[in-house]
Amino acid sequence: MAEQSDAIPGEVREYLESQQRKRLLRFITCGSVDDGKSSLIGRLLYDAKTLFEDHLEALQRESRQAGSTGGALDFARLLDGLSAEREQGITIDVAYRFFATDKRKFIVADTPGHEQYTRNMVTGASTADAALILVDARKGLLTQTRRHSTIVSLLGLRDVALAVNKMDLVDYSERRFEEIRDEYLEFAQRIGIANVACLPISAVNGDNVVDRSARTPWYRGPTLLEYLESVEVDEDRMQRLPFRLPVQWVNRPNADFRGFAGLIASGALRVGDPVRVGPAGTQSVVTRILGGDRDLPVAVAGQSVTVTLRDEIDVSRGDVLSHPDSAPAVADEFEATVVWMHEQPMLRGRSYVMKIATKTVAATVMPLKYKLNVNTLERLAATSLEINEIGVCDLELDRSIAFDPYEENRTTGAFILIDRMTHQTVGAGMLRFALRRSQNVHWQALDVNKVARARLKGHDPCVLWFTGLSGAGKSTIANFLEKRLHARGRHTYLLDGDNVRHGLNKDLGFTDADRVENIRRVAEVAKLMVDAGLIVLVSFISPFSSERRMARALFADGEFLEVYVDTPLAVAEGRDVKGLYKKARQGQLRNFTGIDSPYEAPENAEIRVDTTSIGAEEAALAILGELERRGIVVGA
Ligand code: ADX
Repeated sequence: MAEQSDAIPGEVREYLESQQRKRLLRFITCGSVDDGKSSLIGRLLYDAKTLFEDHLEALQRESRQAGSTGGALDFARLLDGLSAEREQGITIDVAYRFFATDKRKFIVADTPGHEQYTRNMVTGASTADAALILVDARKGLLTQTRRHSTIVSLLGLRDVALAVNKMDLVDYSERRFEEIRDEYLEFAQRIGIANVACLPISAVNGDNVVDRSARTPWYRGPTLLEYLESVEVDEDRMQRLPFRLPVQWVNRPNADFRGFAGLIASGALRVGDPVRVGPAGTQSVVTRILGGDRDLPVAVAGQSVTVTLRDEIDVSRGDVLSHPDSAPAVADEFEATVVWMHEQPMLRGRSYVMKIATKTVAATVMPLKYKLNVNTLERLAATSLEINEIGVCDLELDRSIAFDPYEENRTTGAFILIDRMTHQTVGAGMLRFALRRSQNVHWQALDVNKVARARLKGHDPCVLWFTGLSGAGKSTIANFLEKRLHARGRHTYLLDGDNVRHGLNKDLGFTDADRVENIRRVAEVAKLMVDAGLIVLVSFISPFSSERRMARALFADGEFLEVYVDTPLAVAEGRDVKGLYKKARQGQLRNFTGIDSPYEAPENAEIRVDTTSIGAEEAALAILGELERRGIVVGA
């Protein structure tokens, strides 16, 4: 590159540099095909591209005269670099297009308008600075105009342009334009959009798109392009916010250097500034800021830097650096707005992987408080979220994080939820606020602990988690095993699905959501019992891998042993001790595991017993043998 740019004449190089410095505006377009969205985007791209090509041609001419093609080459690279910015971390179709004018570069996120594409729109809007909402001047505001505006507002976009298109078909009527404008301004204010611009345009004829139209002399506002060239880009706004650097990785090339690298999300940092590391709360002072391999005295939002600190304090990926007097809040329970993006609904009690800025934690969904009517923001009662629905729920994390409410910072307050098994992004959301109980309820350290209790009992506690179909033989085997353990003086407890459903879980049925909650509760109970020093046998169908994993994650390594009672459906159904399979086949019992509700067989259970080849008592002895082999119980 360096050799090449030497060959480029000064003026051209200056132009290229100004291109790279030029502000980038990301905006989303919303509307349907009928609104003329495609023609508008086409018009913008076409007109702006003409401008752009004029420049390109001039550049190439100058470069040729100077005996070099470097200018055009660099442009190709610039475009390449921008297309790389498409990576959203979410594999949802959003069409991104790029164009540039003298003043700015633009990325347009174009998403389909129908309700079943809400998640696409959310994806596009999540990184946008502004939204361009189209309406047909003949039709005025539609339900979907309101939905798009609502989502845009929910995602914290402050600038919205309402393009009243097809003005040519209403004879460029000022009255019609004002009617639509006034109705929209009233609605926008109600849903909390800060800045609205309404523009009368005709995409087909090009009125007020790039050039001011003589057919709307009554209109004094900007053309669409002028608007896009002047609306504030997020990066500028982010620079005014308190400093946040979510640490992406710790850079330690040798023993003398330890730097914390990441993209500055907001604010500015200077060498010599005191900094605080969240969530731990430790403090130090900035000794160096490196941008690439250059030392910088100061760095601002949007820059990727490596920061070194005066003191050897603990900092790891996901921590957030801030100034001590404007530090982010720290909590592990939140109220959040969630947009659901997957065919499998969001389930209360299920634990998902949550990524917020550079941090990854486990988040459990507490009961949904309400879902939103996306057309009106009205609150509706609901227990689960389906694809494309937006709701508000509490989230419980497995540890504390440093965060800002989304309203205050779109980077440190936004998150995505990922399915543990499939690794797919299933939801996206915004933290509203920390729940006060998470700050007011603290873990109480007790003097008599698990180790002390275990010592008294003379054996280590553990949980044996039996999973398998109804009628597989879980409870029968667990019962034999408990008798054996008891006979050897072990302190045990058997938690059986049917029994626990008579008391603690009697409010739960057999829907997916209820089964998730059923397992969450019994896993927590098992954890308390392990803490009490017992050998706990859990005998629940526990059909979903996700919840078995969640249960496992509650225990220390080696404390949780999954026992897969492997009985094929045909065999379990053939036994049908309780007559439930028959009922299920006759349609008298819904959501029956193996019939019309899934069973996800374990792939890596510690112990597997095949009940087609051995009896229940024999299976119990085999498990006992395995426990001895693992040193969990000593031989008789
Ligand atoms: S789990 O799926 O939530 O883990 P759990 O082990 O608590 O199930 O309860 C299963 C027991 O409930 C079965 O042994 C059976 O006796 C009874 N049962 C009643 N309805 C169903 C159903 N629809 N699916 C499975 N088991 C059912």
